[in-house]
Amino acid sequence: MNESLPRYDRLQSYDWNYAHAPEPVEVDVPAIPGTWDFCGLPVASPLGIAAGPLLNGRWVRYYASLGFDVLTYKTVRSVERACYPLPNLVPVEVAQMAGGEREVPAAETMGRTWAVSFGMPSKAPTVWRADVEETRKLLPRGKLLVVSVVATEQPGWSLDQMADDYARCAQWAVESGADAVETNFSCPNVCTSDGQLYQQPADAARCAERVRDAIGRTPYLVKIGHLRDAEEAAALTAAIGPFVDGIAMTNSVAAPVRRPGGELLFDGAPRGICGAGILEASLRQMRTVRQTVTQRYLREGTKPASLIGVGGAFSAEDVRRYLVAGAAAVHLATAAMVDPTAALQVRNTWL
Ligand SMILES: Cc1cc2nc3c(=O)[nH]c(=O)nc-3n(C[C@H](O)[C@H](O)[C@H](O)COP(=O)(O)O)c2cc1C
Repeated sequence: MNESLPRYDRLQSYDWNYAHAPEPVEVDVPAIPGTWDFCGLPVASPLGIAAGPLLNGRWVRYYASLGFDVLTYKTVRSVERACYPLPNLVPVEVAQMAGGEREVPAAETMGRTWAVSFGMPSKAPTVWRADVEETRKLLPRGKLLVVSVVATEQPGWSLDQMADDYARCAQWAVESGADAVETNFSCPNVCTSDGQLYQQPADAARCAERVRDAIGRTPYLVKIGHLRDAEEAAALTAAIGPFVDGIAMTNSVAAPVRRPGGELLFDGAPRGICGAGILEASLRQMRTVRQTVTQRYLREGTKPASLIGVGGAFSAEDVRRYLVAGAAAVHLATAAMVDPTAALQVRNTWL
């Protein structure tokens, strides 16, 4: 691991890290041979950063300089939203998550897996829109800027109001110059308070349709969480398929976190577990969804969505496993935060 390059400091607040973004660096970036495509846009490699590590445009340009070609701007909203209090990133000790764990133990030091607790903070739209616009202008040609957005539920909102809020943010992102938009559907749904939007196919489709109407032909991805089974995968992909160009997965695998020998953290509420411990579950989901969209394509001739592998990828071998499983691209979060040279390591060991 390269200790000399700056990285996100998990002991500091989100705002501190927002203000302390590193400058781009000048390094040799070995090419990945082949022809690559991100939701229909040509791109130099399948390597990207998932929504999370890139808090603002300076973080985007830092990781672009370090060999990532698709840069996803951390999820933004139609209103300003503060971050949850520290700790935002709690190392955990797990081998491989399967989903449905009753709890996972926190660890003293960071290995390769942690619980993530930010609450999707957002700067005000005037701030992020100006930042996206400037960032797109400063990013080298050939790098793609994806903006992740989420709706902000207000008390008593209907599903249509939620869909409109998704569409509003998506349209602003496109007006600001985003090359593609991602809507985070791994978040609570107003209409069914016990669910997540990606687990409500009809509601997810309504939001996706509204976003598609708002952004025209701009490439559009939906980010989803951990699916329970192939049936759930089939229902969701059939519902959102007509409106999206890509599906990014897996956001995380949720579980409550317990301090060693002590109490449950976060008042016992589950948090998204991210990093190496979700690699196998995410790969399984990639295979399931690939099979599902391919079968639909063979049966009905509907264009299959591009699948973006997210979750636990650290090495060239992990990236290859995602590609073999059916991903068109692979996006990293934890690996790139733990070691900012992650893309360079992948490129240097690409066979
Ligand atoms: C610090 C951090 C912040 C994140 N914030 C978001 C977010 O704002 N929106 C989102 O869709 N996913 C978010 N995620 C989830 C990541 O996009 C990704 O799905 C997850 O970390 C799994 O990938 P990994 O194992 O490579 O970390 C975040 C993850 C991390 C580590």
